[in-house]
Amino acid sequence: MNLFGKHAIPMTWDYPEAAILADTVGGFAPASEYIAGCIGKLSPAASGFATQADAQTQTISSLKTISTDPPYYDNIGYADLSDFFYVWLRRMLRSVFPAVLATIAVPKTEELIATPSRHGTKQKAEKFFLAGMTKVIHNLAEQAHPEGPVTIYYAFKQSETSGEDGTSSPGWVTFLSAVLSAGFAIVGTWPLRSEQEFRMIGMGANALASSIVLVCRKRPTDAPSISRREFIRELNGVLPEALDEMTKGSGEERSPVAPVDLSQAIIGPGMAVFSKYSAVLEADGSPMSVRTALQLINRFLAEDDFDADTQFCLHWFEQYGWNENLFGEADVLARSKSTNVDAMKDAGVLQSGSGKVRLLKWAEYPTDWDPRTDKRTPVWEALHQLIRALKQGGESASGALLAALGGKAEAVRQLAYRLYTLCERLGQAEDARAYNELITSWTGIESVANSIPKPSDPQLSLFDN
Ligand SMILES: C[S@@+](CC[C@H](N)C(=O)[O-])C[C@H]1O[C@@H](n2cnc3c(N)ncnc32)[C@H](O)[C@@H]1O
Repeated sequence: MNLFGKHAIPMTWDYPEAAILADTVGGFAPASEYIAGCIGKLSPAASGFATQADAQTQTISSLKTISTDPPYYDNIGYADLSDFFYVWLRRMLRSVFPAVLATIAVPKTEELIATPSRHGTKQKAEKFFLAGMTKVIHNLAEQAHPEGPVTIYYAFKQSETSGEDGTSSPGWVTFLSAVLSAGFAIVGTWPLRSEQEFRMIGMGANALASSIVLVCRKRPTDAPSISRREFIRELNGVLPEALDEMTKGSGEERSPVAPVDLSQAIIGPGMAVFSKYSAVLEADGSPMSVRTALQLINRFLAEDDFDADTQFCLHWFEQYGWNENLFGEADVLARSKSTNVDAMKDAGVLQSGSGKVRLLKWAEYPTDWDPRTDKRTPVWEALHQLIRALKQGGESASGALLAALGGKAEAVRQLAYRLYTLCERLGQAEDARAYNELITSWTGIESVANSIPKPSDPQLSLFDN
């Protein structure tokens, strides 16, 4: 039984722990080999040392290049979890490490996590985290070697906690506020694949696939301020291209950002704009809050241009999911999108009859569909057909369909990202997984599609004569 992969005390019964002597993941020998392999690759030239200090007051970082992995808001209660092991370690090793094991339990008061149970209320916990983290990052900014950037890992899902408006997350707002008020500008963000795929919270869960590394440098003291309008104009110029780059990846060197990570990854280029100014000024002259800036940045995840049928499906799905609802409602929505219910029924994306309308699920799509003979192919239909083909016939079947879809590939991929984010927000984990699977198999699907000769390929017409 694996108790600790999830950083939580409750037991989970669904995954067994490997026998320690087995030659498999979880066994002692493979674990040692992983570590040895890593050390071999890094080939360290100097020996390291570890020491314990409160990050708010430590002086170890003086004139060093700093790369740090702070707690992620309220994700994990490290000290409480550590107590489980600490009591045994203390019994065995107290005479060896008397200073480290001096206390009866693991110290808790300085621990920088946002736990309402320790602080009384959610608000007090947030305040404690913000004040402490601001102190920590101030301390780092003061000590860091001026030649290098400070890199900070932050693996926190925007959707894990959402603000009152549902469009920004306190976990991110609080953390970014601490970073910016310490005088840092964020000059880049790197989504970094940091954990093995078979890690426990990765199995079947929509856990983060990567950590986000914030690359920070001190903001020049004479940085100018800009207006809200100028800020939005700059976002308009920067974010569409940044999003495009992130969702496409670039061949061998950079794989596309997984859908689950996109809403964290977009914070980087957006905050890079926000944080290079001393302030973004609202119309009344007050400085824009980090929260508002994040809301403005997040809007870019939702702005896509799809065909009218797809726009209808998106809106309908957002309201009713796969459930049926009144024809009248569908009719009004369809008109507002310049399409109509009957045409979409013919296109094959919905069922309509007896005064009710519902969207078809991918499993209901016909298996003999051929986009080359279908006269009306909304991106919505193409996407769900690709999912059906992937589920039923793997990447080869899905790739063959993609080849036949011609120029729709890019829009399909964008829609998959968009629906993933939507399903996650609505708590529809199973649907979210289907869109995620399509994106993570995209490179494979695309290479199958590219290997299929196009009708205009001269190789195909060789035997025509
Ligand atoms: C995200 S974890 C880092 C995990 C680490 N990278 C690793 O792989 O083991 C954050 C760590 O910060 C520690 N921490 C919490 N409050 C702290 C404080 N005030 N000073 C120093 N460390 C603290 C936690 O105990 C936890 O070990």
